[in-house]
Amino acid sequence: MVKQIPVSKRASQIEYAIRDVVVPATALEAEGHEIIKLNIGDPIAYPGLPTPSHMVEAFQAALGRGENGYSPSYGLPALRSAIAEDEISKGWACNPEDVYVCHGVTEALQIIFAATLEGGNKVLAPGPHYPPYMAYPQMYGASTIEYRLDAGDGWKVDFDDIEKKMDDNVRLLVMINPNNPTGNVASADEIDKLLSIAKKWPNCMIIADEIYDGLDFTGTQVSIASRSFEVPVLVLNGVSKVYYAPGWRIGYLAIHDPTSKMNDVRDGIERILRSRLCASTPAQMGYIAGLEGDRSWMKIHTSKVMKQRELCLQRISEIEGLEVQSPGGAFYMFVRLTDEKWANDDKKFVLDLLHEEHVLAVHGSGFSSELGRGHFRIVYLPNIDTLNIAFDRIDSFLTRHRQ
Ligand SMILES: Cc1ncc(COP(=O)(O)O)c(C=O)c1O
Repeated sequence: MVKQIPVSKRASQIEYAIRDVVVPATALEAEGHEIIKLNIGDPIAYPGLPTPSHMVEAFQAALGRGENGYSPSYGLPALRSAIAEDEISKGWACNPEDVYVCHGVTEALQIIFAATLEGGNKVLAPGPHYPPYMAYPQMYGASTIEYRLDAGDGWKVDFDDIEKKMDDNVRLLVMINPNNPTGNVASADEIDKLLSIAKKWPNCMIIADEIYDGLDFTGTQVSIASRSFEVPVLVLNGVSKVYYAPGWRIGYLAIHDPTSKMNDVRDGIERILRSRLCASTPAQMGYIAGLEGDRSWMKIHTSKVMKQRELCLQRISEIEGLEVQSPGGAFYMFVRLTDEKWANDDKKFVLDLLHEEHVLAVHGSGFSSELGRGHFRIVYLPNIDTLNIAFDRIDSFLTRHRQ
């Protein structure tokens, strides 16, 4: 065998469970099997939830006008203003200069970590959590520590656990609200509690990942920045979920710095942004149309997603071997496996289910080896007929393996 050129340790350690399970699924597809995919939070992967046409037309029109050049590094001024207006409507004094347009929240995260973390620093993130929160900080010599979400109480934040884990090295305290993968929505009181803990640590900033904020079925979701009068908050959002355009790769970070202590961090963020040139120009034009146009279409999309959510809750309640805490937002369910065999090996459950029933979910331990164990995540974006077929297959799989 040819001796291989060494890969960096930081790259070889990266895992992204949501896409890692796609590898065996693709192999099965190559053999001619049709897979029901409940693994990826991409609304466009499922029929019936399209990107709104006025956004697509604005994107296309920008291409037609030849707007194919680089944009300013921090984003098109018109988009920064439209985003600032939107954040103001969520309750805090956001200026267009506080907004930085990125290639999705994912790029924003990489930039934030690069601008704030040194060796030995920590990111305190919910467990279970969206995998990049674990994968990226280690690239900067930092580490991610999980705080516990309570599996027995709707996946609510365990504030005692946060208090125990806070120290001077925690630079970033993450809240994903609504949460992926659990769907929990934190209340205003809970956000206030989080801020009161962070306030005690002068070098700590909050990451407010609000990419699912328009998919809140409780009516209680509030902007974290809108509640913070002292603690700095890095607000994250974009087109991927609420605007149903994840392939456009457009999102933003907005800095809420009520006591003006983020000047150096802001300078670092701006330097990184300039060095990576800019986000896609025509996609930014499409986002402007989404923010400035009529949003009544959102209600129609949301009501479809909610019906699918109801169906999943109903089916799960009827299947022996499954339990779920009803999600308040986003489009995921984090389902508990109650059969001991699977509770002890959720990855085997997912892989065996895939091979035997051609249904693809994501193992809970991929979202946290400790706090996600014994669970699997499904996406309730497929239509009702597809979801029913998937649950019929999950039910027969569980029954068969119990005999
Ligand atoms: C919590 C969370 N943040 C960020 C992202 C990715 O956002 P973007 O597509 O803007 O990079 C996802 C995607 O699933 C997510 O679940």
